[in-house]
Amino acid sequence: MFYKSNDIKLIPLTSFEVDYKKVLEWNQNYEVVKYMHARKRYLCIDDIKEFVNDKNNKFRWGIHYKDEFIGIISLQDIDHIDRVGDIAFLIGETQYYGKGIATECGKLVLKHGFYILNLNKISLGCFAKNNGMCIVAERLGMILEGNLKEQVYFKNEYVNIFKFGITRNQYYK
Ligand SMILES: CC(C)(COP(=O)(O)OP(=O)(O)OC[C@H]1O[C@@H](n2cnc3c(N)ncnc32)[C@H](O)[C@@H]1OP(=O)(O)O)[C@@H](O)C(=O)NCCC(=O)NCCS
Repeated sequence: MFYKSNDIKLIPLTSFEVDYKKVLEWNQNYEVVKYMHARKRYLCIDDIKEFVNDKNNKFRWGIHYKDEFIGIISLQDIDHIDRVGDIAFLIGETQYYGKGIATECGKLVLKHGFYILNLNKISLGCFAKNNGMCIVAERLGMILEGNLKEQVYFKNEYVNIFKFGITRNQYYK
């Protein structure tokens, strides 16, 4: 499923030739990965190919802004029994931060989750100190449901993870 909103297009990752080198560069850019768990970073082309081609319980879209491939958004950990899914963002081109792109992409993916997949709840987890991500979650109508204390060991310290969520009822209100 393709989505479009103003200058933003979401194109399924497998529907265009992904520039693996670009994705690798994003994963090596401190500004991009500073709030990402090391386990979620991909540091060689083979890992990135595996990430792109993994379709197990997930949808991934390339984020294209004015026809430039600038990031990836995923709806993952989809469970059709519980009818849940989890959104993850990676905008790799930092010059586009703060333009509302993640918020707009998040809206499109929520639409996909609730209208197309008929999910009952969509969540999002991020480092508590990832202010940009927290702002996006709130702008998507998500509620802060939990603060998982010292959940992740990151750069010599245990850091808190915020869990946001939006239920189907909250979304349609
Ligand atoms: C987090 C991320 C998705 C936000 O994307 P974005 O397109 O910049 O988000 P938006 O522009 O829709 O909204 C972000 C808002 O937070 C603000 N913001 C961003 N970083 C901020 C920070 N460190 N402190 C305070 N506000 C911040 C922006 O200015 C913007 O608000 P504004 O519209 O009032 O200016 C993007 O920075 C990113 O992909 N980061 C790298 C990967 C990552 O951390 N992913 C999340 C892992 S869980």
